[in-house]
Amino acid sequence: MKIIDNIKELKEELKKIDGTLGLVPTMGALHNGHLSLIKKAVSENDNVVVSVFVNPIQFGIGEDLDKYPRQLQKDTELCQNEGVKILFAPMVSEMYQEDKKNLTLICPPYEVVDKLCGKSRPGHFDGVCSVVAKLFNLTKANKAYFGQKDAQQLFIIKKMVRDLNFDIEIVACPIVRETDNLALSSRNQYLTQSDRKLALNISKALFNIKKLFNDGIDDVRALVDSALKIMEGLDVEYIEFVDKNTFNFQTAADKNTLVLIAARVPESNTRLIDNILLWDAM
Ligand code: PAF
Repeated sequence: MKIIDNIKELKEELKKIDGTLGLVPTMGALHNGHLSLIKKAVSENDNVVVSVFVNPIQFGIGEDLDKYPRQLQKDTELCQNEGVKILFAPMVSEMYQEDKKNLTLICPPYEVVDKLCGKSRPGHFDGVCSVVAKLFNLTKANKAYFGQKDAQQLFIIKKMVRDLNFDIEIVACPIVRETDNLALSSRNQYLTQSDRKLALNISKALFNIKKLFNDGIDDVRALVDSALKIMEGLDVEYIEFVDKNTFNFQTAADKNTLVLIAARVPESNTRLIDNILLWDAM
C-alpha cells in the first residue's frame, strides 16, 4: 500500500494502476463502519483508494474540528490489512490554498440543506460536497462508497453527482451497529460511560418506531411522541420522517419512510445521528 500526502504523487501513482478504481472518502479514525465500506470497495474494484482527511471547511464555528480523533498510524494498518492500494492523507494546505470564504465551493440547494443536519450546521454540506467533488476529480474513481448513517449527506452527494454529471457510481452501504445497536461513529470515542448508556436510546427509539409502524401505526405525531419518551435525558435536535427518495417531510409514515434523529448526549455534549428505514425492501 502506498501512503501519499500530496496531489502530484497521487496523480502519478493513479496513472500506473490498471483496472477499476474504488474510492472510500473518510475523515479517518476508522471503525468497523468504515471497514465495511472498504471491504465492499475492495471486493468490487481492482484498486481502492481510501482518503483520510479531516476536512476543515465542513466544520462550523464551535464544532469539534480541533478535537476530532486523528489516528493515522492505526488507520494505515487497518487499510493495509484490507488490501487498500493507496491511502491518501493530505495536509489541509495541500487541499486548500485559501480560506473557505475565498474558495470556489459546491453549494447544494437551499431545499436540501435547510433541514435536518444542514439546519444546525450551516455551510456543512457545502464543505462536504466541495471536498468530495475534489476527491472525485483527483482520483477519477469508478465508484465511491458512503455510509447510510449519514443519510442526508448520501442523498446530497447522489444529487450532486446527478446534477453535475460526475462520471462515478455512488454505492450506499448499510449502517454498522454495535451488538447493542449503537450506530458506529468516530464521535462515539467522546462518550463517557453514562453518555453511552443514554445514547443507546437513539437506536432504541428508532427500532421502536419501526415496530410500531409494522404494528399498523403510521401517524408521525404519535410515532415521534413514542420516540421522545424513550429519548428522555437526551437533547434531541430533530426527529424527522422523510420520503427516502425525495427527503420531503411526511405526516404519515409509509413504505418509503426514513426516520432520522440527531441528539446530543449531555455529559460530553456529543452530537450523534442515526436513522432507520421503516420498510426493508425484499
Ligand atoms: O462522512 C465523512 O466522513 C465526511 O463527511 C466525508 C464524506 C469524508 C467528507 O469529508
